[in-house]
Amino acid sequence: MTSERQTDYLVIGSGIAGLYFALEASEHGTVTIVTKKKSHDTNTNLAQGGIAAVMGDDDSLEEHVADTLKVGEGLCKRDVVEGVVEEGPAHVRKLAQLGVDFARNASGDFDLGREGGHNKRRVAHYQDATGHAIQMALLDAVAKNDKITLLENHIAVDLLSMEKYGGESACFGAYVLNNDTSEIFSIIARATVLASGGAGKVYIYTSNPDVATGDGMAMAYRIGAQVSNMEFVQFHPTVLYHPHAKSFLISETLRGEGGILRLEDGAKFMDEYHELSSLGPRDVVARAIDNELKKSGSDSVFLDMTHLDEHFVRERFPTIAKRCRALGSDIAKDPIPVVPAAHYQCGGVVCDKTGQTTIRNLFAIGETSSTGLHGACRLASNSLLEGVVYGARAAEAVRDCELVRPGQVAPWQTGKATDSNDAIVVALNWEEVRRFMWSYVGIVRSDKRLQRATRRIELLRQEIGEYYWDFKVTSDIIELRNLALVAHLIVESAKRRKESRGLHYTLDYLEKDESLLHDTVLHQSSGPPA
Ligand code: SIN
Repeated sequence: MTSERQTDYLVIGSGIAGLYFALEASEHGTVTIVTKKKSHDTNTNLAQGGIAAVMGDDDSLEEHVADTLKVGEGLCKRDVVEGVVEEGPAHVRKLAQLGVDFARNASGDFDLGREGGHNKRRVAHYQDATGHAIQMALLDAVAKNDKITLLENHIAVDLLSMEKYGGESACFGAYVLNNDTSEIFSIIARATVLASGGAGKVYIYTSNPDVATGDGMAMAYRIGAQVSNMEFVQFHPTVLYHPHAKSFLISETLRGEGGILRLEDGAKFMDEYHELSSLGPRDVVARAIDNELKKSGSDSVFLDMTHLDEHFVRERFPTIAKRCRALGSDIAKDPIPVVPAAHYQCGGVVCDKTGQTTIRNLFAIGETSSTGLHGACRLASNSLLEGVVYGARAAEAVRDCELVRPGQVAPWQTGKATDSNDAIVVALNWEEVRRFMWSYVGIVRSDKRLQRATRRIELLRQEIGEYYWDFKVTSDIIELRNLALVAHLIVESAKRRKESRGLHYTLDYLEKDESLLHDTVLHQSSGPPA
């Protein structure tokens, strides 16, 4: 018998968007947050650069809007961008009040960093560990709040949908697996908020933590929600290349402070790709590095900070300096070997300006969502900003949600499940998806590569589907099923965009096609069943 718990608001994920939502919504209801591992195992916690907002006297909302629209290459929604940019600074100040120790200059104002695509310094930061500082401050506030319950080691299996009971298209919570006890129970909620981050683990090389398996996007799609713009996967140009360093980001703010990208022989190469050279937009820099690596056959390019004041370099970037020191190099003296890696999903679950998805009582915020802010390419450090703005807006909107639920919720069906000793199958499938996504649906795509990816992903999804219903559900199987569905959504979206725009670059259609100046929207009926 499946047990049942009740809460006003169920949040899936414990990064900036989910925690900020929880704190705001706790003013008018009870909140339960489920998170797959430890509460700080999030992409937010790893964010280095900072949060973009107009905080300086020499900056303006119009300029931040203009930079966002320019990088987004025609697919940002102007009114969404304007709203987020306008509301942003107040939320940054609120984060400071909550205890985030943002760096200040001698006069006590925010010390602002610079990143690619920004025409001004506008990135509020705490050294090179801004995400960690935000994560800890929010978790502290959540721990002190008795309206919020945080369940670690709990993974959502599937959303609860009224359609399964012959009702309207509405969500009333989720089936959740307690990873410590293996129990699956339902959490019933007036509103369910997907804040589970992105899907970097779809690719073999990523800056993301292991938890980034696209769970929110996959679950929403399975109950019929629209997802959009999944082809726009952002590859960060500079992730540390080292056999013993997994997924370690080398923040764009290093280039913002004057870092120069060089080839193995020391030659500068970015001048021929973009007027802003090493600080060009991410899509351009990542493609340039990919191209240079293919031409030279080298393992990596290098980010050179050695011409800058060494005390400044070590003090401004202590986290990166420490990590590199542990691996035997000094960032102030040795060029840092770097390669591009999957970093951010610009698409996601379609939602309106409050985070409301196309399913009643289901919200999506942060990287899980597709709001119209990022368009075809995200401006650096706009994501933490989006997390707080939409966290706050959704917290206001859920006040009006009324619980729509069946009298009796069906217990989770384990079918003919037995314990699976076949962990190797999960591991192999996992590896296979991630490898072919990197090779065929990565920084440079083509029709042929996408066709190859399609054949492989559909076969794998079929196998995973059989496996899923045959064996006892574990977090590994849940994640694999979600990962494979998200891979399918990326491939299908990429196939539909027959042009090169922003982060989607294909050898078969090198130019932009203005007739495709619209979102790529998918939902259950637009492709094979999930
Ligand atoms: C970075 O520090 O380079 C990452 C910032 C971001 O992805 O917005």
